[in-house]
Amino acid sequence: MSDPWLRTLDGDWLEAVERIEHHGQPHPWSRVQLMGALTDPQGSVWGVGVGEQASEGLCGFAVLSRQPFDAELQAITVAPQVRRQGLAGRLVTALIDQAVGWGSERLLLEVRASNQAALALYRRSGFRDDGVRRGYYPPLNGCGAREDALLMSFPLVGSRG
Ligand SMILES: CC(C)(COP(=O)(O)OP(=O)(O)OC[C@H]1O[C@@H](n2cnc3c(N)ncnc32)[C@H](O)[C@@H]1OP(=O)(O)O)[C@@H](O)C(=O)NCCC(=O)NCCS
Repeated sequence: MSDPWLRTLDGDWLEAVERIEHHGQPHPWSRVQLMGALTDPQGSVWGVGVGEQASEGLCGFAVLSRQPFDAELQAITVAPQVRRQGLAGRLVTALIDQAVGWGSERLLLEVRASNQAALALYRRSGFRDDGVRRGYYPPLNGCGAREDALLMSFPLVGSRG
């Protein structure tokens, strides 16, 4: 793979982001939710891609929101055909840098307890386990028991300079 690019995305990227979300997520965000994230002045959406910095080159994206003291990683999806090539790791690094730039104290997230790929990504990126929210998620395939959310955080204060 050629050297990937990283950039923030705006509403012009909606179709490309939607394509990745719908191919890559079992419970995809709606078009309205994605547009909300892409145009949210209290957040940013980062994209990673290869080749031209245009919609065809987009391989993955992540949504970061700014809160009074912390930042929250709200979504991250990489297209299935380009997984395990370090692209999500690059996105997480960009989000950490962005949150440091905002002066956030921590980068927070919640993740399905069964999402082994995401858990491995976050732990490898330096997130620590903070707790469990029991029965937070509806069952993945619509039936069966609700699923726990694991709460994780990455401390930012003192992580630079
Ligand atoms: C989770 C996800 C974003 C990871 O994207 P990715 O680009 O494949 O991740 P990376 O290549 O950057 O992986 C970085 C590290 O995470 C871990 N990891 C990633 N995918 C993994 C998997 N399927 N199984 C085990 N570990 C995995 C590994 O430690 C990996 O490093 P390595 O490849 O050197 O071993 C991707 O699988 C995805 O889009 N899943 C569907 C959406 C989703 O679940 N998002 C998270 C919601 S909270």
